[in-house]
Amino acid sequence: MGFSESIPRSAGDRHSAPVVSRGRYVYPPGLRFNLPFYRFHEFFDPENPILLFEHLRRYGRAAHYRILWNDVVLLNDPTDIGEVLIDKAASFGKDRTQKRMKILLGEGLITSDGETHKRGRRIAAPAFHRRRIEGYAGQIVGLAAAMRDQWKPEAEFDISAEMMRLALQVVARTLFDTEVTPEIHDINDQVNVIMDLYHFLMTLPRAELLLNSPLPKMRRFRAAKKRLDDVVDGMIHSRRSEVDARSSDRGDLLSMLVAARDDEVGGDHRRLTSEELRDQVLTLFLAGFETVANALSWTWLLLGQNPVAEARLHVEIDAVLNGRLPTFDDIPRLEYTSMVLSESMRLYPPAWAMGREVLEDVSIGPYHLRKGTMVFFSQYLVQRDPRWFPEPEQFKPERFTPAAKAGRPRFAYFPFGGGGRQCIGESFAWMEATLALVTLAQRWRVELVQGQKIEMLPKITLRPKNGIRVKMMRREG
Ligand code: HEM
Repeated sequence: MGFSESIPRSAGDRHSAPVVSRGRYVYPPGLRFNLPFYRFHEFFDPENPILLFEHLRRYGRAAHYRILWNDVVLLNDPTDIGEVLIDKAASFGKDRTQKRMKILLGEGLITSDGETHKRGRRIAAPAFHRRRIEGYAGQIVGLAAAMRDQWKPEAEFDISAEMMRLALQVVARTLFDTEVTPEIHDINDQVNVIMDLYHFLMTLPRAELLLNSPLPKMRRFRAAKKRLDDVVDGMIHSRRSEVDARSSDRGDLLSMLVAARDDEVGGDHRRLTSEELRDQVLTLFLAGFETVANALSWTWLLLGQNPVAEARLHVEIDAVLNGRLPTFDDIPRLEYTSMVLSESMRLYPPAWAMGREVLEDVSIGPYHLRKGTMVFFSQYLVQRDPRWFPEPEQFKPERFTPAAKAGRPRFAYFPFGGGGRQCIGESFAWMEATLALVTLAQRWRVELVQGQKIEMLPKITLRPKNGIRVKMMRREG
């Protein structure tokens, strides 16, 4: 392996910065052997990579391992994470795992780097301005209000499936200005087929080479991708003719992107091509739908487990709204609601880990990493660090008062990432989650069905593995 270890690999002081020299490079300590060698260890479970990350946390500030010839470093320290995302962001690109998503998302915002990414971000940014997203608030409340009218007292159901249904309706309305039509179901189904196969592809070193092979799995992949492209292209085409005919947009994100030009200084004043549009639309669909649904699902679980917090939430909702439906302008006054959602995304961050690839040799904290190293950091791990969050397993919304927040380093809590690639949909997500939660909780109290085992499924987003079974109790008044 060529590593000479300068300290024993023990838990030691979790937050000291032991280093391992390797020629002119300096890496954190970590697994002695190549990762596949550990396949019979309990922390090696391809279905649950959080186990590996939790195991690696014992090495302290950072840990190192190798997969075949690739160096991988897990960073656990907020300062080091800030260096990667902000101070030295130019030395990092998206990691190979995310680049592989190009198979699905082409050169969309998530997968692109450099100038392509900057241009995509410039063009999409106006669609997420405050005034623009404000227009979606009424639609979101309307959809949540319709859902709360359908619920039956004490009927048992899976709240995570229900939150997926709501988030799909919201994305259909705000991205495409439509109901959940068969086309939207089709997009969702094809994305799911592709995602399942994507996980299979991830396990192979040269997956791209297999794409055109006659393997049945690959045939299925190609068919799903073609169907997906056809449906989205069809929607783009009809919207483009509308926008051209009326020289105005319909208010949804798609119209906005269809009409947008890169008019910034340094921009080329060109509109997005059909292909670029498709990549961006699919990216927004994928990034904006499951994440919010998961944030809401985990929040119901935590409210079910913490009736005192739930009661306090109800007090706030009743005081602020006095029985009427919420609006965009109510959001700043729903302070406890925002603390509940923050604490929920601390314990169950929908985006549970992030990665980057080192583009040129770079120093991060005490480490000197070589080009090609993959760097990961996990919201799930860092946001459960007892230095910033004592009794980290406990649900305590009070951790998010302004004073408490000011006492922590910037990257102790980063559910939406940070730096130039911080989630572009963050304000949208906050608005959607807040308004949906408040509309539903105004009418209903949650009870968890006893005896169920709640497990996490950390795929691209952090999902509840077997759903969350609940009964909803109607609130008086
Ligand atoms: C609770 C909900 C959400 C969470 C936790 C979340 C989290 C994240 C995180 C952590 C990143 C950064 C990834 C990285 O730097 O590697 C990201 C990026 C992104 N998110 Fe979100 N997101 C959420 C909702 C949304 C919504 C609603 C949309 C769009 C409607 C959206 C669109 C995007 C896009 C396009 C990017 C890529 C930005 C770029 O690289 O420039 N997200 N999100």
